[in-house]
Amino acid sequence: MGKYGHFSKDGKEFIIIRPDTPAPWVNYLTNKTYHVLITHVGGGYSFYISPKDSRITRWRYNALPWDRPGKYVYLRDNENGEYWSLSWQPVCKPPVFYQCRHGLGYTIIEQEYAHIRSTVCYFVPLEDELEVWHIRLINRGNKPRNLSIFSFVELCLGHALVDLINQPNDQHFNDVRFVQEDNAIYATKRYWVTYSGPTVKQANQAWNKWVYFSSSLPVIGFDGSRNKFIGPWRSESNPLAIEQGKCSNTMITAGDAVAALQNNISLAPKEELEFTIILGVVDKPHDRGLRTPVEPARKLAKPFIKKYADSLNIDKEFNQLRKYWDWYLSHAQVATPDPQMNLALNIWNQYQNKITFLFSRNASYYHGGLLFGRGYRDACQDALGPVMVEPDAVKQRILEMAQNQFKNGSVMHCYFPITGGGERTGHSDTPLWFPLAVTNYLKETGDFAILEQSVEYLDGGKGTILQHLLNNINYVLNDTTNRGLPKFGPGDWNDTLDYLGRQGKGESVWVAMCLALAIKETVQLLKYLESEKKLQSKGLMYQTRSIRSLRQKYEQAYFKLANTINRLCWDGNWYIRGTNDWGEIIGSKKCKEGKIFINTQTWAVISGIAPKNRAIKALDSVRKYLDTPKGPQLVAPAYTEVNPRIGLATRCVPGKKENGAVFNHPVTWAIYAECLLGRGDIAYEYYKKALPPAFQTSKKIKVKVKPLFPQSKISKLQSEIIYDPADEDIYEVEPYVYAEYVTSPEHPTFGQASHSWLTGTAAWMLRDGLDHILGVKPTYNGLLVDPCIPKHWKEYSVTRKYRDATYHITVKNPSGINCGVKEIWIDGKKIVSNLLPIFPKGESHYITVILG
Ligand code: NOJ
Repeated sequence: MGKYGHFSKDGKEFIIIRPDTPAPWVNYLTNKTYHVLITHVGGGYSFYISPKDSRITRWRYNALPWDRPGKYVYLRDNENGEYWSLSWQPVCKPPVFYQCRHGLGYTIIEQEYAHIRSTVCYFVPLEDELEVWHIRLINRGNKPRNLSIFSFVELCLGHALVDLINQPNDQHFNDVRFVQEDNAIYATKRYWVTYSGPTVKQANQAWNKWVYFSSSLPVIGFDGSRNKFIGPWRSESNPLAIEQGKCSNTMITAGDAVAALQNNISLAPKEELEFTIILGVVDKPHDRGLRTPVEPARKLAKPFIKKYADSLNIDKEFNQLRKYWDWYLSHAQVATPDPQMNLALNIWNQYQNKITFLFSRNASYYHGGLLFGRGYRDACQDALGPVMVEPDAVKQRILEMAQNQFKNGSVMHCYFPITGGGERTGHSDTPLWFPLAVTNYLKETGDFAILEQSVEYLDGGKGTILQHLLNNINYVLNDTTNRGLPKFGPGDWNDTLDYLGRQGKGESVWVAMCLALAIKETVQLLKYLESEKKLQSKGLMYQTRSIRSLRQKYEQAYFKLANTINRLCWDGNWYIRGTNDWGEIIGSKKCKEGKIFINTQTWAVISGIAPKNRAIKALDSVRKYLDTPKGPQLVAPAYTEVNPRIGLATRCVPGKKENGAVFNHPVTWAIYAECLLGRGDIAYEYYKKALPPAFQTSKKIKVKVKPLFPQSKISKLQSEIIYDPADEDIYEVEPYVYAEYVTSPEHPTFGQASHSWLTGTAAWMLRDGLDHILGVKPTYNGLLVDPCIPKHWKEYSVTRKYRDATYHITVKNPSGINCGVKEIWIDGKKIVSNLLPIFPKGESHYITVILG
C-alpha cells in the first residue's frame, strides 16, 4: 500500500486514495480513432487520431496551476452559492472522501463533498468516436438540495500547435453554436492548418470535424465563450458563470471556445441521480465558412446523443470495454513465484505496451503531441507486444511504415498519420527497425504472404515488403566509413549523440551491432524460406536459388561486420560506443568522461557478434561500472563538461536523461543479453529493479554512491542517500507504469522518474519477461521453450495463445538452475526437442517442461 495508492485486488485498477500526488497521474481512454488523456483529478485532453492536427480540447503546457484544463463537472449549491468540482481539481475543495480508479481504458473518480457523493466514470467506447462521462450523484445528507450542474471543456478545434502559438489569429475561425433540441453545443473551426511549415503556405480549408458536447439532462444554460463563462481575471477554479449560478448563453464566431452546459436539479435526501455527458466528433461534409450548416453534423451526432442518454447502453458499452481488455490480456498470462512480476506481465505491462503502440512518443504529459508525430523506430518496437494479440493492427502498421520509406532504403524518422509528411532526419539506426518488426511479425503469425505485398515508396515506384526490408539493410550496409562501420550521422538510437557524426566520418558501433542483428534475423528468415517446398506452401513466387544466394550474401556480410567490430571496437573490458568526425573514440577507458555505454555491451551479445569471453566481460563491465540500486545507467561517468564533438548528451545535467540516467529502455536490453548468456539471477535482478514503485515492496536502503571511476567528479559530490524504491514521492510520476528514465545517483534527485507511459521499455520489458526470462519464444517453426530464470524458482506456468492455439506450459526447476531444458512433455507425451509445434486452430495443449 503506497502513500498515494495501490492496485485493486484483481490488479486491474490502480486506486489513488488522495488527490495531492507528486505529479498528475495519467490514464489513457482510447479506441482506434478517439483518444483521451485523463489524470486522476480530471485534467487532460482529447484528440481525434492526431494530437497535433486534430486536437479536440485544449491542454496548457508548462502552466501553473499544472494539469489544466480538463474534463470538469462542477456542482453549485443554489441555497448558499457554494460550488466544487467532482474531480477535486480545479476548485480543489477538500473532499471528505476521494478515490480515483484508473482502470484499463477507463477512469472513475469518486468523491464526497458537502454531503453529495459523486462518481464520474470516464471512458471511450470501443467503436464510437466520443468520450462518455457517466455521473452519479447521491444526496447523503438529510436536507433536500437545490443544485446546478455545470459541465465544461475548453476547446482547441484543430491544429494544437497553431492554437498554442498563434491563438490571437486562430481564434477568429472558431464557431460554437447551441442546439436546444439536442441539449448540445456544436463547435468547429473554419480554418485548418495541416502543413507544419510557414503559415503562408497553408491550404484554404476548414477543419473537417464538428465537435458536439451534450448532456442527458435538460440544458437550461450554456456558454461557448470562454471569456463569458470563466470571466475576466479568473480561471477554471472560480468561473464567473458558476459563481453567479447562471451561464450567459453565448454562441461565438470568434474568441476562445469552450463548451459549458448547465442543468438545474433537486435531490431529496438519499435520492440518486444518474446522467451522462458526451463529447464526440463527427465529420463535416460541408464548408461554407460562417454559413456552414450545423444540420448535417446534428444528423450524424443525434444517434449517439440518443444512444448515450440511455444508461443501459452505457452499461453495455462499458462492459464491452472491460471484456475487450480481458480478451486482450488472455493471450499471455503467467503465474510465477513473484506476484509483482505476474501483475506487471499479466496486466499493466501489456496495457502500457498497447498504449505505446497507439501513441508512439507522441501524446503524453511529456510528449505534448505537438512536434514529431509517429516515430519510425519507436513504432517498430512498440509492435512487439500487440503482435501477440492484434496481428492485423500490426500488419497495417507495417504497411504504413513501408509507405514511409524511400527507394534507397532510407526512411522518414517520424511521420504524421492524418496529414502526411514528417522528417527524414538521417538517424543511422532508423531503417534497421523495420526488418526487426517484420521478422517478429512473421514469427508470431506465419503470414509470409505479406512479404510479397507491394507498397509504394515515398519517392515513386513500388516494392514488396521483402524488398523494403532488404533495402533497409542495404542502405545501412552501404553507408559505412572506409573501415566498414556504419556512419553515426545526426544520431542513432541515442538521439543526443547528435554532433558526433554530422560530417559523415564518425562511426556508430551500436548501429553496427543493430545492423548485425537485422542481418542475422533476415538470414534466419531466408533460411527458413529456402526450400522450394516451403516457398510453394506459403504461396510465394520466389525462386529457391535466388533466396539461397541472398541468404549467402547476407551471411557473409554478417561475418564481415562481426569481424570488423571485434577487430576495431574492443576496448579491453568492453566495446567502445563509436568514433566522431574528428577520429576521437567515444566510450573508451581512455575518455575522461562517458567511458562506458551500456548499449554496445548488451547489443554485442544480442546481435551475436561477441565471442563468449568478450560477451561475459562486456556484461560484467555493465554490472561493475554502470549498475545502481535502480538498475544500470546508460553511460558512466556522466558528462560534466559540454563536448561540442559529442552533442546534447553532454549538455544535459549529469544523471538525467541520456547523460547517464537509468534509461529503462536499454535496461531491457541488458536483461535480454543476460538471458542469452544464461545468467538468470542477474537478468531477474535487473528486471526487479526496473519495476515501478507500485510493484516494489517498501525497503529503505542506504546507497553509498560508489565512485564508478576514480576520476568521476560527480560521485564525489554525493555521499550517502537513503533510498526506498517503493517511495512514490521520490519517483513522482505514475507508479504503475514504466517511465523512460529514472535519475541515477549521479544527480541529487536520484530515483526521480520522468517521461512515464510512452517508452520503448514497455514493449521490450514484456518480451523480456515472456520470451527471455520465462522462455516462451515464437519462431518460424513453433514456440521455443528456453527459460532463463532465477535459481530459487521452483515452478511457474505460462498460458500463451500462439497462431490460434493455446499453450498451457508448466516449467519445473527441481535442480534449482537458471537455464537448460531436460525434458518436455506435451499432453503426457515426451518430445525430443524444446520446440513446441504449431497446433491446429482452436486446440489447447498442456505442456510440462523440466529444467535440468
Ligand atoms: C526517446 C526516443 O523516443 C527514442 O527513440 C530514443 O531512442 C531515446 N529517446 C533515446 O535517445
